[in-house]
Amino acid sequence: MDRRPIGVFDSGVGGLTVLKKLKELLPNEDYIYFGDTKRVPYGDKPKDEIEKYARQIVNFMNERNTKIIVIACNTTCASIDKNEYKEILFSVLEAGAESAADLTKNNRVGVIATTRTVESGSYEKSIKLKNSNADIFQKACPGFVPLVEKGLSESDESFKLAKEYLKTLNDEGIDTLVLGCTHYPILLNAIKNAVREDVLIVDPAIRLSYDVMNYLKENDMLNLSNGGKTQYFVSGDAKKFADVAKLILNEDIENVSHVDIDKY
Ligand code: DGL
Repeated sequence: MDRRPIGVFDSGVGGLTVLKKLKELLPNEDYIYFGDTKRVPYGDKPKDEIEKYARQIVNFMNERNTKIIVIACNTTCASIDKNEYKEILFSVLEAGAESAADLTKNNRVGVIATTRTVESGSYEKSIKLKNSNADIFQKACPGFVPLVEKGLSESDESFKLAKEYLKTLNDEGIDTLVLGCTHYPILLNAIKNAVREDVLIVDPAIRLSYDVMNYLKENDMLNLSNGGKTQYFVSGDAKKFADVAKLILNEDIENVSHVDIDKY
């Protein structure tokens, strides 16, 4: 048994879609969530900048004594080498790639993600590692994250943009579409409206949360006591984060603290 919290981080509110799934499956765990809202979006930043951010956030998580760290940001997963870390890290990108590789029937997989994730080719590499017959069709959607961070996921603008972004993928005959950015499940209505009805939409957080659960079970690290607390930390405006987080999690978020992440 291990009562230490699970660390979860993202550039902003997107990782809350992962936290939500983790909390559904592992309600007894305590969680530390960090959103790098001062520096969001990550998707248009260079690899070395994201590597620096990831180090700082992992240092912060170590200070909070986390037992494992869930990287709830595909752009970070696409930019760092997990093997360079001594901490136990879980990658949302690997979980998404494995799901898609298993679920596609016609081996034509679409991936929507940030520009950095698409350019890294990480999804393509990871899917092909598991399913060498798969053809991957990617589309960068740089306009999505700012809309979600502003709480505008249900706006006409989101629906219009989703139509534009998904047009080419529909034409490619994909049968599976990976939401390759943790902000995108928040846009599910807009994305569903834009994609062909028979396309299976993959939220990597589902596979990821089962991977985390199995790992904790196998290593006798589950929290079997009365946990279930979540503390939220952000590098930007705490109030703004709480307002948007409330819409995503459907619950009131009070304990949001500001962190000077540059200190780490
Ligand atoms: N939510 C993140 C991801 O999964 C990052 C989005 C961004 O900051 O551009 O890639």
